[in-house]
Amino acid sequence: MQYNFPKNFMWGAATSAPQSEGHSLENGKSATTWDKWFEMNPEKFYNNEGPENTSMLYDHYKEDVQRMKELGFNSFRTSISWARLLPDGKTVNQEAVDFYRDYFNELLQNDIKPIINLFHFDMPWWLMEKGGWENSQSSDYFQFYAEKCFELFGDQIQNWTTFNEPLVHIEMAYLHGYHYPAIHDFKKAITVGYNTLLAHAKAVKALKDSEYANTAKIGIILNLTPAYPKSEAAADKLAAKNADLLNIYSFLTPALSGKINDELVALLKQSDLIDYDQIHFDAEIIKYCEVDFLGVNYYQPIRVQAPLKHAEKIEDPSDLYANYEWKERRINPYRGWEIYPEAIYDIAKTIDKLSDKPWYISENGMGVADEERFMNADGMIEDDYRIDFMKEHLAQLNKAIEEGSNCIGYHTWTFIDCWSWLNGYKNRYGFYRVDLNDYSRTIKKSGLWYRELAQNNGFD
Ligand code: BG6
Repeated sequence: MQYNFPKNFMWGAATSAPQSEGHSLENGKSATTWDKWFEMNPEKFYNNEGPENTSMLYDHYKEDVQRMKELGFNSFRTSISWARLLPDGKTVNQEAVDFYRDYFNELLQNDIKPIINLFHFDMPWWLMEKGGWENSQSSDYFQFYAEKCFELFGDQIQNWTTFNEPLVHIEMAYLHGYHYPAIHDFKKAITVGYNTLLAHAKAVKALKDSEYANTAKIGIILNLTPAYPKSEAAADKLAAKNADLLNIYSFLTPALSGKINDELVALLKQSDLIDYDQIHFDAEIIKYCEVDFLGVNYYQPIRVQAPLKHAEKIEDPSDLYANYEWKERRINPYRGWEIYPEAIYDIAKTIDKLSDKPWYISENGMGVADEERFMNADGMIEDDYRIDFMKEHLAQLNKAIEEGSNCIGYHTWTFIDCWSWLNGYKNRYGFYRVDLNDYSRTIKKSGLWYRELAQNNGFD
């Protein structure tokens, strides 16, 4: 069967500043929580691989853009490092401006549309010392940073996003222990979420108030993980509904409508987890949450059942739903994530019900360990598993598009192997392999396949 995609479909990949640039404490950049956490607890990081020398794009961006070109990319997402651009939160680091302007220029010269994100889990340490997103002024600091970005790069960049996966920095740092400060406190997680939402809205407003209001567009990148109930029993279905309220609609409803989801507010208000008066007070700014376009990162769904114990008051997400293991699941054993391409179609339907704004798959991919096992005699990794993974997901996406979904692109994670938060270089996702001894890059079979996909605007 032939799968064709709409005209001008965006083909490309995503990465982030902290995971690809390297030079983490150099060229005027100040520390982020990742630099400090690695300094304090290196044992938490796989193989002691910290954030300092990640894929070294800072040195290689010119050739790397040529590599993107070779893959047929017409678009590419990365982020600006807040701590590099404004090391103390106020003063512009000219070296960072020169680097980003040249990097973006290189993309533009090669007809690769840059989509530039402002925050990808990389909280500057100076702000963490003031409480990070718990600080009620954090959204104002972020607004200042966003304004600077629009001022410094607005003539080059027409597609901005505010946050990558805002839910992840909230739950990983305040519930699951995988990001600094690694505590477990649902109430704090909600405060952090609320301040993140305000920060997003203030950045959107900053762009709309800028001289680029009519030429540039702004969006947000959300990780949408649909919840599938264990059974048709009412309690399991309610658990799935509540999981979706927290994990999908918390950011999706504001992003598509400029309002916080009423059912979510009602749920959290019952247990005094949210300050209703504050939301009312902030309504004028919250309406700026509405975006021009949406990015969706999709890796895995969640499987849920009714909570394991009854709770009078919600004090934790586990009071709303419990995870369970679906017997028929296929798993990527290296990352431990379920592979379920059908969810891409379901996500498209969820978005279509709420809005006809343009959206795209901003990340999708498969991290595999020890890929050198698949190296052929010419030194190329034959990653057929990654090609199959993309084909299956693209087939589902294609079905949704054929039915009218306004999906405008498919970006993978990632372009060249990059550093992963606590997993270092264990699982590789790239179209190019990075050799950590000399940072040389070698194309993988999936890169050649992607080039054909992009050139043909579809696949067989
Ligand atoms: C996404 C993030 O959630 O998943 C990336 O936006 C991340 O930053 C990617 O690297 C893959 O996850 P991991 O944990 O394997 O690096």
